[in-house]
Amino acid sequence: MASIIRNLFLRSLAVQPPLKFNDLRCNFSISASIHSKTTRKNKVKKASKSSSNNSVINQSKLSQVKRRTRSEKELDEETFLNKYGNDNSAHVPVLLGEVLDVFTSVTLRSFLDCTLGAAGHSSAIIRAHPEMQVYVGLDVDPIAHQMAQSQLKSILERDSLDTASALKVHTFLKNFKDVKSVLGEVADDLLACGVNGILMDLGMSSMQVNDAERGFSVLKNGPLDMRMNPKATLKAEDVLNSWPADELGRVLREYGEESNWYSLQNRIVKARLHGGLHSTNELVDLIKNSTSRTKGRQGWIKTATRVFQALRIAVNDELKTLEDSIRACFESLSSGGRLAVISFHSLEDRIVKQAFLNIMTCSEVDGSGVEDEEGKRLRELRKTNLDTVKEEAWIKQVIQGQTGTILTKRPITPSEKEETLNPRSRSAKLRVIQKA
Ligand SMILES: C[S@@+](CC[C@H](N)C(=O)[O-])C[C@H]1O[C@@H](n2cnc3c(N)ncnc32)[C@H](O)[C@@H]1O
Repeated sequence: MASIIRNLFLRSLAVQPPLKFNDLRCNFSISASIHSKTTRKNKVKKASKSSSNNSVINQSKLSQVKRRTRSEKELDEETFLNKYGNDNSAHVPVLLGEVLDVFTSVTLRSFLDCTLGAAGHSSAIIRAHPEMQVYVGLDVDPIAHQMAQSQLKSILERDSLDTASALKVHTFLKNFKDVKSVLGEVADDLLACGVNGILMDLGMSSMQVNDAERGFSVLKNGPLDMRMNPKATLKAEDVLNSWPADELGRVLREYGEESNWYSLQNRIVKARLHGGLHSTNELVDLIKNSTSRTKGRQGWIKTATRVFQALRIAVNDELKTLEDSIRACFESLSSGGRLAVISFHSLEDRIVKQAFLNIMTCSEVDGSGVEDEEGKRLRELRKTNLDTVKEEAWIKQVIQGQTGTILTKRPITPSEKEETLNPRSRSAKLRVIQKA
């Protein structure tokens, strides 16, 4: 039996190798650059045709083998295409219906979006929760911050929401690692009482990848920048041209999970003798020259994607920031409040999963082993929460802990329809935790 499953798995890989976020980003960007006049609608038609031809069966077999829960939520193709179909550059919020489901049963008087982007998730959540009184949104990127601000302003004006006048919207150009000080700035009691819902939608927005000057795209020539916050001092070219060789090697190995890291490290260090690397094209050429030609275009693109991912993580200190911020976000929740995190590659997902488990193992029992009054209250609350949680269709398996409940024992991934309509969503994983 095990060998049958293994063969099925290997066969499905041969048809459609699993792709990482940045690989997918590449595919997305490639088609965007080659067929710049092809709309998302046309691409979707082509994708649907080919997927129905070959990989539907393999895909579903593959999803049985993978340790994740593919979303069963229906996605309305017509609404999707009407909204995003004619604009390839628009940022499409990933797992939107699933994120809305996460917060449906929660009375969201207050909500925090740690990663505003184009405010796609936020706009839908505000519309779905007329009871909302305080909304807080942050982004480190001034362009995203500005775009989100005007988007939120226009939905409040346009939608004439019942409670629009009662809803206070606060947006900040801030890193989500500062979440506690931001909430403290909004209102004295917000941090003390806690917010009812928090969202972190990690990674880059389409606006960032599509802008060559930001240096995020493997396929667009631009400066080696890669800063989410353009005021930060460290750029990708600093890592490449000045970091000690072994630190550079560690970045490629640990953040890019690149097997060819040592050879790349040596080539990059050698390039310093001739003035170093200063554009994404120069870096891509170096990668092309160190990747086996037998692997063709896909070979160097995959390596380049991993190298770009590694540099981006190092420049923005993404993993450490994420680890610290998940705990800060959880601590900022009210009792019964939920934190939803969408990640786009395995390093991020591992951190989210582990951070949730670490939070679960915090004990309220004091050193004597005797449960205090607060501990008893939390135990009662957990029981009630668990009974309610079981009634929500999207929740499959939970992990019950001392301080809360992980509502996604396995992460939720996009439906096949969403993957076809928005290839960028393919590597997304949604994990949710609820505070006791
Ligand atoms: C995938 S986009 C979010 C898209 C958004 N959910 C939407 O629906 O439009 C991720 C955003 O997070 C921002 N970001 C990344 N790291 C951040 C951090 N540490 N603090 C604040 N914002 C961050 C990026 O600048 C980017 O705009």
